[in-house]
Amino acid sequence: RYIKVLRGLDELELGLKEELGLKEVYVVPSGLNNIETQRELGKFTAEFLQQNLKDEYTLAVTGGTTLAIVADLMLTKKELTDVVVVPGRGGLGEEVEIQANTIAAKIAKKINGKYHLLHVPDNLNKDLLETLTKESQIKRVLNLVKNADILIHGIGTAELMAKRRQVNSKKMNQILNDGAVGEAFGYYFNQEVDIIYSTTSVGLQLDELAKIEKTIAVAGGKEKAEAIIAVVSNKYQDVLITDQHAGERMLTLL
Ligand code: BG6
Repeated sequence: RYIKVLRGLDELELGLKEELGLKEVYVVPSGLNNIETQRELGKFTAEFLQQNLKDEYTLAVTGGTTLAIVADLMLTKKELTDVVVVPGRGGLGEEVEIQANTIAAKIAKKINGKYHLLHVPDNLNKDLLETLTKESQIKRVLNLVKNADILIHGIGTAELMAKRRQVNSKKMNQILNDGAVGEAFGYYFNQEVDIIYSTTSVGLQLDELAKIEKTIAVAGGKEKAEAIIAVVSNKYQDVLITDQHAGERMLTLL
């Protein structure tokens, strides 16, 4: 706490909380580079998550490098019982290490919980998707996802995420021209927090987020400031965890 006051992080947290209308905002010190910053974010978020999990909770997670570090930095704790961890959305387009499935499994192992995986790729056509989601195993996981107690997700810049998800260049240009700046779990948002585009993938739908007791967004690095503003709102999230450089830039933009 003392260090936070000295660095002015307390004030940043308050300012962001007010501007974004969120219940909780946490700002961690920025590192000298993005890797260090992600570690700071990861350390704090892992601890925060561990404090907020309760017996019999269902935790939904997304993928991404930030969440992968959170999973790595979680401590092995065995005292929780019957926690289930699931990926928030389908989508296998990313490298295995940063896929939501991998992260869900890793977190579950750390906390002695169970996990279920969702093997549904992004960008499937509607008919195929409908058939797949009727399959009983997939249906079961989707049900767990929709009834999650906590959701934790990353935020990316629209352009980078469209590239990472192999959105074709024509579509990507269209999304960017339409004003997309931020992305979270397959949804692309403009600066006014409107949805510009979403990948057809199964799992959490935006309007289901409000039902989840605690939705936590975690993202940092100065270059993500616009993206965070585009994605985060009190309509969807309860908690934002970010770093000093992103936070300061966000306040200049809000
Ligand atoms: C994706 C998530 O896997 O990672 C998104 O589905 C998020 O919600 C993205 O925008 C962020 O990735 P990173 O690597 O910047 O943490």
